[in-house]
Amino acid sequence: MTGLNQHLDPLQRSGIRRFTNMAKEVDDCVMLTIGEPDFDTPEPVKAAACAALAAGQTHYAPNQGTLELRQAIAAFERGRGMDCDPAQVLVTVGATGALYTALTGILDAGDEVVIPTPAFSLYETITLAAGGVPVALDLRQGGFQISKAALEAVVTQRTKAVVINSPNNPTGTVLSAASLEAVKQVAMERDIFVICDEVYSQLTYAPCPSLSLDRELADRILLCQSFSKPYAMTGWRVGYLAGPQKVMDRLLLLHAAEVAAVPTFLQTACVTALEQDVGPMRDRYRARRDYCMDRLERMGMSFPKPEGAFYIFLDIRPYGMSSEAFCTRAIREAQVAMVPGSCFGAEGFVRLSYCCADDRLQKGMDRLERFLHGIS
Ligand SMILES: Cc1ncc(COP(=O)(O)O)c(C=O)c1O
Repeated sequence: MTGLNQHLDPLQRSGIRRFTNMAKEVDDCVMLTIGEPDFDTPEPVKAAACAALAAGQTHYAPNQGTLELRQAIAAFERGRGMDCDPAQVLVTVGATGALYTALTGILDAGDEVVIPTPAFSLYETITLAAGGVPVALDLRQGGFQISKAALEAVVTQRTKAVVINSPNNPTGTVLSAASLEAVKQVAMERDIFVICDEVYSQLTYAPCPSLSLDRELADRILLCQSFSKPYAMTGWRVGYLAGPQKVMDRLLLLHAAEVAAVPTFLQTACVTALEQDVGPMRDRYRARRDYCMDRLERMGMSFPKPEGAFYIFLDIRPYGMSSEAFCTRAIREAQVAMVPGSCFGAEGFVRLSYCCADDRLQKGMDRLERFLHGIS
């Protein structure tokens, strides 16, 4: 058989899916593994998609995305302070598509991408698939914040980009203004792109500063956004990429070759999504976060304070076992499923997601408490 692209050799299945599947084999297991809203897509968004279909919006959209949606996105971004024109926006297949286009579009083989870790595993996967080299910047010792010295220590002549994700998956933490300033200074001094993955930016429980609003950095920022998380639209697969005009003009060609365009009727519905008030869903997540934090603190667990997204990253180092072993035992012995920190490049921790109904969450916490009691 002729060989495949050798850059695909190191790619592995997502650990999140692996542990979710393991949990599905256990009767009545409480799934605290899932990184997607348990709420349903708002009715007006579904109605807008149906109306668009009924109106015959079943043909190719422009490669870049419909003008109507790009205008709505640009207005939304300007509303939060970003200097954004519809011509700088590319509608993608989720933030996954935005990250794929951004990374494969800027990387030459051997180029390095700095990934502050723990991190969502897709950054590493795409970097590898593009022939690049992922370089982890371990944030466990620094309170999950980025210092200039630590960042400089991993930047080399081959560094092409740094990916920042705030609020973060898997920790739920928000990067401080000082962390962002460190990234900004290094990016400007060393001429590197900053890829801002802000898919959780509307799900925050504290102020969340953003580098994508920094005008001095505008010529090197690539913003990756998604409709998945804020509007409970994970299955719709729509997101966008926004960046400097010259870069976006090139990335459009790559996107056109990858997916041609995102389905037209979905884009029409996304205009309606941008008009939705995400406040009520955010309040529900915040209440669950507060409930979990209170329970976990009373169990004696430590974790960095989650100020966004819907995850808590538990420090399991006192229990003296690997995160894989911890999660496997929790599923099999206590019917509660979480994801090992090793799936995010951070051994010694496990990710708990509070995207589930309140009664299930309570059951999950009760089971975790009993499990911890049994292993201490
Ligand atoms: C940090 C982060 N970025 C990107 C994505 C991908 O999101 P999308 O559904 O828009 O492809 C996820 C999904 O879990 C995520 O957690």
